[in-house]
Amino acid sequence: MLKVEGVGKSYRKGSLFSANKQHVLNNVSFVCKRGECLGIIGESGSGKSTLGRLLIGIEEPDQGTVLFEGKRIGERKERRGNISAVFQDYTSSMNPFYTVEQAIMEPLKLKNIPRKEASGKIDRLLHQVGLDSSYRTKYPHELSGGEAQRVCIARAVSTEPKCILLDESISSLDGSVQIQVLQLLKKLREIYGMGYIFITHDIQAAAYICDRIIFMRQGRIEETVSIAHLKDVQSAYARKLLHMIIP
Ligand SMILES: Nc1ncnc2c1ncn2[C@@H]1O[C@H](COP(=O)(O)OP(=O)(O)OP(=O)(O)O)[C@@H](O)[C@H]1O
Ligand SMILES: [Mg+2]
Repeated sequence: MLKVEGVGKSYRKGSLFSANKQHVLNNVSFVCKRGECLGIIGESGSGKSTLGRLLIGIEEPDQGTVLFEGKRIGERKERRGNISAVFQDYTSSMNPFYTVEQAIMEPLKLKNIPRKEASGKIDRLLHQVGLDSSYRTKYPHELSGGEAQRVCIARAVSTEPKCILLDESISSLDGSVQIQVLQLLKKLREIYGMGYIFITHDIQAAAYICDRIIFMRQGRIEETVSIAHLKDVQSAYARKLLHMIIP
């Protein structure tokens, strides 16, 4: 479904005119199969979010390619409805002047889904993420963090994309709400069969939801491991992370 080949990305370091470059991603290659949940773990600054932006095509790699079902992801029309994203900061990813209904309606409108059909769909989606129809008319400031994140998830799922990028999507929620949202993501995946790219610091959350995990360090893939073989990771970095959950 998603094929990443030899991807590299650098950003200019320092001032606008500086020639110094910081290599954020180096020769990153992997595939994500249809319906797979692929975790990306790494410490702060290792390039996870940068990779996420390249995967959904909102930025272009300097080297290499990102292909979605054989086509370059940079094309807007390839992206639309195929891949969506949920970020950590749900408050800024929601328009404060949009009600929940308007927020979920937006991607459905872009896909030209008739209004009546979309309206029924919104009720169904809200129900699936554990909110009732009374939430339709609420504004973001009237929602708790967990509720707002559920609305963002409903919105990401609404067009039934083949893949959803989740970048630290549960990190700012408190413990019990994190578990609820993880369970919700698992359930939605059973209903819709989409794949997830799950970016996180939290190896426990990744172990709960992912089929495979990529360990990233300093812009490179250090190791990739399936959940069934998580205990057998080789690299020192992955072992260190793992020791935090299995002493
Ligand atoms: N648009 C940008 N311009 C310049 N530098 C950037 C830009 N985006 C990211 N960087 C730099 O690239 C490096 C990797 O950042 P990135 O956000 O991808 O890390 P991350 O793994 O997601 O970290 P975190 O876990 O803290 O979210 C950082 O050093 C960051 O400062
Ligand atoms: Mg990040």
